[in-house]
Amino acid sequence: MNEHLRRAPAPDLLPRFAAIVGDKYAVTDPQTLAPHLIEGRGLYQGVTSLMLRPGSTEEVAAILKLANETKTAIVPQGGNTGLVGGQIPFDGELILSLTRLDKIREVDASSNTITVEAGVVLQKAQDAAAAAGRLFPLSLGSEGSCTIGGNLSTNAGGTGALAYGIARELVAGVEVVLADGRVMHLLRKLKKDNTGYDLRHIFVGAEGTLGIITAAVLKLFPQPRAVETAFIGLKSPDAAVKLLNLAQARIGGTVTGFELMVRGIVEMALKHGHGNRDPLAGAHPWYVLMEVSSQQSEGLRDALETFLGDAIEQDLVEDATIAANLDQRKAFWHLRHSLTEVQKPEGGSIKHDVSVPVAAVPAFIAEASAAVEALIPGSRPVPFGHVGDGNIHFNVSQPVGADSKAFLARWTEVNAVVDKIVLKYQGSISAEHGIGKLKRESLVKVKDPVALALMRDLKKMLDPNGILNPGKVL
Ligand code: FAD
Ligand code: MLT
Ligand code: ZN
Repeated sequence: MNEHLRRAPAPDLLPRFAAIVGDKYAVTDPQTLAPHLIEGRGLYQGVTSLMLRPGSTEEVAAILKLANETKTAIVPQGGNTGLVGGQIPFDGELILSLTRLDKIREVDASSNTITVEAGVVLQKAQDAAAAAGRLFPLSLGSEGSCTIGGNLSTNAGGTGALAYGIARELVAGVEVVLADGRVMHLLRKLKKDNTGYDLRHIFVGAEGTLGIITAAVLKLFPQPRAVETAFIGLKSPDAAVKLLNLAQARIGGTVTGFELMVRGIVEMALKHGHGNRDPLAGAHPWYVLMEVSSQQSEGLRDALETFLGDAIEQDLVEDATIAANLDQRKAFWHLRHSLTEVQKPEGGSIKHDVSVPVAAVPAFIAEASAAVEALIPGSRPVPFGHVGDGNIHFNVSQPVGADSKAFLARWTEVNAVVDKIVLKYQGSISAEHGIGKLKRESLVKVKDPVALALMRDLKKMLDPNGILNPGKVL
């Protein structure tokens, strides 16, 4: 850490920061600050005396200029849905909330782009695209509250990545405020722009450590004319991977969703309410929620029915049901998106957001489950997630009736066992949630040392005083 860096803003600086945004948007009331200091899983509790809520890029620039001159640390925050603690001020740093930058600046249907400010909630961007007859395909369980700035800063993945790509692939341009307050205007709508280094990607996935994203141009796609959604019961992750490959080759449409779930987590979803109902009559060891989309308005449902019928005959699928209407489709997705929440009533849960090559997913799940169960007898691995991206949320619930504190105290030990298997398959210990505070120590162990050195050089160059989100990522 930079030895001159001031983690908590000096008291005499508070009025100077407040003057930039106006007193109304310089929040000091502990009750208003409280929800910005805890993250969803309850893993972290932060502390701060000030949250600034700028209303323009210029105000963000003025805040950073002052912070840089006075060596005052800043923690950027969007919707506070991040799962690695990146948005939490741990040492009294001031929070820079981007939520007032919430304008959709332009939807350009002909260029297939939407230009939004960083604080726009993901769902609002999706809705604006839909109103123009376009699709913005990034989709996460948190889409009702996470922001575009947070999505880009974490390089979010989600359920649409299989067909449309992760956040990084959905960005055409960015507007970024640098640590010294300069504004970099790269809000281009261009697919082709070979004028030197492509700097937009440095800030995507940087988790607020290299600059503040204030706006972005995002790529849009045609709205599919037909969408069909199936809930499928099967024997194993191996059957799921085979089914995915077959579906991608055979169905006359695009596989736009393919989410794997073990029975254990579906049981949690059914047990803990949220209005979930079992879509299939009998129980199956594994499930897939599969969505296919097409630009042809006719024939997709028949194609899916035939495909699933064949898959049942080939013993790849045990049972399946196709959503009969929009409400049923929403119910399938609701069940899938409730999986983060439904683990909570089951007590302590040790998380892994990992990826391995798709072909290695079945072996990874089998080996990691066996290793974790051997380490903590009675522990309950509940793997689920974006199997088509090789991205599994390998979460482990505590043994029934165990002491949750004692179980969570074994977090690092369990991580080590799982990460070892991830690395054996040349996988990644952070597939889509980022590094933040949670995986900072693990990063040093797994990242190529030359790449890590380059990351540190880049950080020093772009943020020499270390004011941007100190203690995160690096
Ligand atoms: P925050 O949590 O506020 O911040 C996240 C990080 O970005 C922090 O490091 C913060 O400092 C930085 N940051 C925020 N805004 C800016 C900005 N404008 N400029 C620079 N830095 C900034 N993630 C996935 O990838 N895939 C999923 O499927 C998924 N599902 C989820 C489901 C649930 C129910 C929940 C609670 C979370 C899920 N997440 C998922 C994680 C989370 O929603 C994403 O990481 C999301 O992108 C964070 O957006 P946010 O606005 O809440 O950012
Ligand atoms: C999801 O895909 O639902 C989230 O990324 C997983 C999580 O909450 O761990
Ligand atoms: Zn996920």
